Amino acid sequence: MKSLGIQTLFRPQVKQEHKAKPITIKTPEEVEKMRIACQLAADVLVMIEPYVKEGVSTQELDKICHDYMVNVQQVIPAPLNYKGFPKSICTSVNHQVCHGIPSNKPLKNGDIINIDITVIKNGFHGDTSKMFIVGETNLPARQLVAVTYQCLRLGIAQVRPGNFLGDVGYAIQKFAENQGYSVVQEYCGHGIGRDFHEEPQVMHYGKPKTGVLLRPGMTFTIEPMINAGKRYVKRLPDDWTVVTKDRSLSAQWEHTVLVTDTGVEVLTKRAEETDFV
Ligand code: MF3
Ligand code: CO
Ligand code: CO
Repeated sequence: MKSLGIQTLFRPQVKQEHKAKPITIKTPEEVEKMRIACQLAADVLVMIEPYVKEGVSTQELDKICHDYMVNVQQVIPAPLNYKGFPKSICTSVNHQVCHGIPSNKPLKNGDIINIDITVIKNGFHGDTSKMFIVGETNLPARQLVAVTYQCLRLGIAQVRPGNFLGDVGYAIQKFAENQGYSVVQEYCGHGIGRDFHEEPQVMHYGKPKTGVLLRPGMTFTIEPMINAGKRYVKRLPDDWTVVTKDRSLSAQWEHTVLVTDTGVEVLTKRAEETDFV
C-alpha cells in the first residue's frame, strides 16, 4: 500500500512542488495486460498456500515465491529493490500491519500472516494479498481475518461507474467500526498499471459521494488494513515494517480491480473466491 505521506501536507510551499499525475484510463489492450499480470499475482498466493505452515520462516516463503515468479512465471517481483525494499514479497505477521520484511523467524501455531504479492509482466503490475492462519488460532484472530475480508468485499461492491472512492472507503469503515475494529489511515490503496503506485489514492475510510468519481478503465487496488485495537501505527527501525502502536492484531486483504462499463472486475480473483457481494 501507498504511504499517504502526511508530512507533505504541512510542508511549506516550495518551488517544483511535485504535481499529482493524472489517473490513467486503461485501453482494452492495456486492460488485457493487467488481467494477465493480476492473474499471475493471484497464482502466487495459490502456489504458496501449502508452504504456510508452523516452522517455516518468512524468508523461506520469500525464496519459494521469488523462484516461482522468476523461473516459472517469468515475471519481475515488483517489491524487490522498490525504494530499497530488500525482498520479493511482503510478509506481515500478527501485529505487523503491512510491508513486513521476510526474516529467518519461523512461523508458529496460531500466527496470522499477510502475504502481499506484486508482479510485473509485460510492463504491467498486478498486486494482491491475503491472510493465512498458521495451524489453529483463537476466535478473536479468526474474526479479525474474516471481518477484514468482508471489508474488502464490501469495498469492491461499491465499485461501478458513477460511484465515488468515498463510497468505497465509507463501506469499509462503517463495517469495520461496527464490529469494534479500527481502520488504518496512514496507508491506502492506489491506482496501478505501468506504475506500481499510480493515482488515485484509495482511502479505506471516508464519506459517501465524495472524492474521485469512478470511470470505466480505471484500475486500482483496495487493501484495507484493520486493527483489533486502536488505529495508530508506527514504522520499525528497519524503515519498512509497519506495526500497530498498541501491539493489537492487524489484518489486510488486497485485490486489484477494474472499473467496467457496468460495474467491477476483480482482476486478482482466485478460484476459491466465488462472489464479491
Ligand atoms: N504490495 C504493497 C502494496 O499493496 C506495496 C509493497 S511496497 C514494498 O501496495 F516495497 F514494500 F514492497
Ligand atoms: Co497495493
Ligand atoms: Co500489495
